[in-house]
Amino acid sequence: MTGETGHALRGDYSRMRPDYTVDQDWDAYTPAQHELWRRLCARQAALVPRYACEEFRATLATLDYGAGIPRFDAINRKLVPATRWELAAVPGLVPDLVFFEHLAHRRFPVTVWLREPGEFDYIVEPDIFHDFFGHVPMLFNPVFADYMQAYGRGGIKAHALGAIEMLARLYWYTVEFGLIETREGLRTYGAGILSSGGEIRYCIESPRPNRVGFDLLRIMQTRYKIDTFQETYFVIRGFEELFAATEPDFAPYYGELRGREPYPASMLLASDRVHHRGASPSRAA
Ligand code: PHE
Ligand code: CO
Repeated sequence: MTGETGHALRGDYSRMRPDYTVDQDWDAYTPAQHELWRRLCARQAALVPRYACEEFRATLATLDYGAGIPRFDAINRKLVPATRWELAAVPGLVPDLVFFEHLAHRRFPVTVWLREPGEFDYIVEPDIFHDFFGHVPMLFNPVFADYMQAYGRGGIKAHALGAIEMLARLYWYTVEFGLIETREGLRTYGAGILSSGGEIRYCIESPRPNRVGFDLLRIMQTRYKIDTFQETYFVIRGFEELFAATEPDFAPYYGELRGREPYPASMLLASDRVHHRGASPSRAA
């Protein structure tokens, strides 16, 4: 197995089913791994009240993550009745089309392995902590849950149209690194941020990155960095905005964007709605 960058993927792909799912084998996690999980959780849980959106916070509190690496079946007993989503254990990254098929059927693939202690602060590939802590709480939100399924269906279509790169940028700038404007000020709902000890502060407080109002075509034309904090974040006004903007058929958009040179990750455009720090309603009040 190799990823898009060509390096070998972490994880044991030798015992998976044809749809890439595996059994979690919860008993195989060591006490040291549960301890590492608890440390990761404790750090993020302390940051969540200031930086995460309320939809995320409300759910996190009900999931008991502080106890140790969760069992898939225990979380599924809560998730299935909440939004009809289900977690599926996978060995690691899966091919695009496999991923989209799972999402289209309201199954979220979660990686079974945990990072090494030396990766406490930073990891490039998604591990079980990123997937459980960053993604799973958002799947309890009904609007976001429907967005994720629609995204999976859209991915299958984009695959057929040769437009995965454009659609992947949308996932990156929303599901992984999205910001949301709330009555409390700017907050995050992006899993890549929520599971990161450094970026969760940086994305809200640093003067360096651009923060730009959500703009679907602009996002699908913008490159991203996978190995540094983001240089640009896109801000939604609510999950309904995200859902509504992505409802139309993307085929004409792909046609329009194809052949255009993508924007660099750091670039600001004259048409961008720029968010200025401190300008949020709660801070102005
Ligand atoms: N509406 C998009 C299409 O027709 C699919 C999509 C939905 C993509 C939601 C992303 C999010 O391709
Ligand atoms: Co992720």
